[in-house]
Amino acid sequence: MTAVLPRPRVGTERVARPRRYLMCRPDHFEVSYAINPWMDVTLGVDRELALRQWETLRQTYLDLGHEVELIDPVPGLPDMVFAANGGLVIEGQALGARFTHDERVPEGPAYLRRLETLGLKEVTAPVAVNEGEGDFLTLGDLVLAGTGFRTDPRAHAEVQELFGIPVVSLQLVDPRFYHLDTALAVLDDSNVAYFPEAFSPGSRGVLQRLFPDAVLATEGDAVVLGLNAVSDGRHVVLPAAATDLAAQLRERGYEPVGVDLSELLKAGGSVKCCTLEIRA
Ligand code: ARG
Repeated sequence: MTAVLPRPRVGTERVARPRRYLMCRPDHFEVSYAINPWMDVTLGVDRELALRQWETLRQTYLDLGHEVELIDPVPGLPDMVFAANGGLVIEGQALGARFTHDERVPEGPAYLRRLETLGLKEVTAPVAVNEGEGDFLTLGDLVLAGTGFRTDPRAHAEVQELFGIPVVSLQLVDPRFYHLDTALAVLDDSNVAYFPEAFSPGSRGVLQRLFPDAVLATEGDAVVLGLNAVSDGRHVVLPAAATDLAAQLRERGYEPVGVDLSELLKAGGSVKCCTLEIRA
């Protein structure tokens, strides 16, 4: 008689889709002002280390078979490395960003000009304040939109009207998680991971209804910006310190790929913040 061996839990086969990203080298990165609770101007950053860490992220995408476009960093714009905030691109159509804080306002036109050179169908300048993919996360035929700290809810309506895609507004309530992409990660076309406490009770209810099988991150994962992750449907590139989240993802059949962006974390950003997806 053959013994019945315990079988490893086999997750769903996850399928990666090649992506096109826009990134900005942190040539001028520093923490010279504080516009979120992570930023402490007295701490000092190691720019060489930031550059090496960023380069590892770029190489990780290339190794996974993705395309990476670059935008020239502008002196005096230390947060420009956070390319996710530079716009929103869906089906070859782009909406530019309009930043909340004066320090980052000039990044809006800089990113808009770069988006105009990517061969997209249409590039539109924004009306209301919106911080791009920091607060707009796309999955399937839906856009999840954050508000509370940066993006004006009027921009949610603007995105729905421009793209003709349903936009679901979500209220952020914890200043540590000031952009939606610090509290929620899109895993594929139908599922997400998030930190419930970062959202208002009503928004938590909405997330529960939309994503009953979502991965729920612990506070420990959230405070290392573990949810600031980029998924291609199979590989989830995320901060290496988010080990519980990585384990949960592995359980679900995803392949977590940890990277260390400790220097950029000093400005309140990590993997996703550095990455704007250009969707064809
Ligand atoms: N220092 C930047 C800011 O506060 C960090 C931006 C992070 N980007 C993001 N997509 N969450 O605006």
